[in-house]
Amino acid sequence: MLVSPHGGRLTDRQCEGKKAEEIIRQVEKGILLTLNAREKNDLEMIGNGAMSPLEGFMCRDDYMSVIDLMHLSSGPVWSLPVVFSGKPDDPEVSKGDHVGLRDEDGLIWGDMEIEDVFNADLVAEAENTLGTADDSHPGAAYLNSLSGTYIGGKVRSIRRRESESFQNYRLDPKETRVLFRARGWNTVVAFQTRNPIHRAHEYIQKCAMEIVDGLLLHPLVGETQSGDIPADVRMHCYEEILKDYYPSTRVAMSVFPAAMRYAGPREAVFHAILRKNYGCSHFIVGRDHAGVGNFYGTYDAQKIFDRFDQDQLGIVPLKFEHAFFCEKCGGMATLKTCAHGSEHHVFLSGKKVRAMLIEGKMPPPEFTRPEIAQILMEAAGNGEDN
Ligand code: ADX
Repeated sequence: MLVSPHGGRLTDRQCEGKKAEEIIRQVEKGILLTLNAREKNDLEMIGNGAMSPLEGFMCRDDYMSVIDLMHLSSGPVWSLPVVFSGKPDDPEVSKGDHVGLRDEDGLIWGDMEIEDVFNADLVAEAENTLGTADDSHPGAAYLNSLSGTYIGGKVRSIRRRESESFQNYRLDPKETRVLFRARGWNTVVAFQTRNPIHRAHEYIQKCAMEIVDGLLLHPLVGETQSGDIPADVRMHCYEEILKDYYPSTRVAMSVFPAAMRYAGPREAVFHAILRKNYGCSHFIVGRDHAGVGNFYGTYDAQKIFDRFDQDQLGIVPLKFEHAFFCEKCGGMATLKTCAHGSEHHVFLSGKKVRAMLIEGKMPPPEFTRPEIAQILMEAAGNGEDN
């Protein structure tokens, strides 16, 4: 039996075909509000049930309860706001309005029954959820760019398969659940990532695979900060590594269409809960999960899970120490398993790897598999040089 969705059942606010056409006809001549990239990602995941039990963008009571207490006002654990911000060029709206939701190019992605228009407390939101309101944090810079008005209410999302990226990998929670059942998996560990796969990722994934039935590789493909390696390059790396280094019967891959918030600990809990909705019983939390710069302690994103009872969360965090290649061990290790000094340990930060790629230097095999290094070199425009 797979784990139950958060709050007990998968919500379904997604429409296709005739139903979607009907929504478009209803809203296209009326009030249209504009979704930014993050909100478009969130709408998709409210629609497909990944955000269960949410059925729409948060109203004030949920927003305040999440910021202050990390719970929805109805009780379930929830660590980050999922909100729609009023845009300066959009029409004014009020409670009771039925509006269409369009992207910045004018394409309609859904609708909303407005239940609440309220003042955001952006400073409290930033400080409580990100630990800072300083613009040098990308999540805080995003909040500081908003108007300060949030609009809450139930949504319906339109699924437009024809315009989706990663079509073959875009599985909704009900689809991953069907896949896991078909494979006979009861326990599944999810791996969240926004970076190209490296040896430490592979090591912690495979340690986790030893104790569960299957692994769900779930790369985040929503909005990330500029400078992060693009999602199509990261997916290509995964396709390559899966050919040779993983048993195909024990691994599934699908994309996670969320935007990164860089909220460290709070985002780790958010990531875990959403993966529970996809049918995962376990969730990997390694070093500085969803972190950015030096805003969080290395293991803050693990410690936050101790604040909740296991039955409130319903998904088990698998916590991993900082992993590295040890030249003396001749393999991957952590301080839990390695007896040697740090002079024997190979560890490269993402920043260092990006700098190497720009300079045309191949990252070493102790850090990343050569097949992956090659793809990254090519993506950085240095393919022929080596
Ligand atoms: S994240 O923003 O999605 O957390 P990243 O893709 O780098 O970034 O990490 C994916 C997962 O692997 C996270 O749980 C992270 O903590 C973990 N991780 C990354 N590098 C290491 C490492 N060297 N040792 C242990 N865990 C790691």
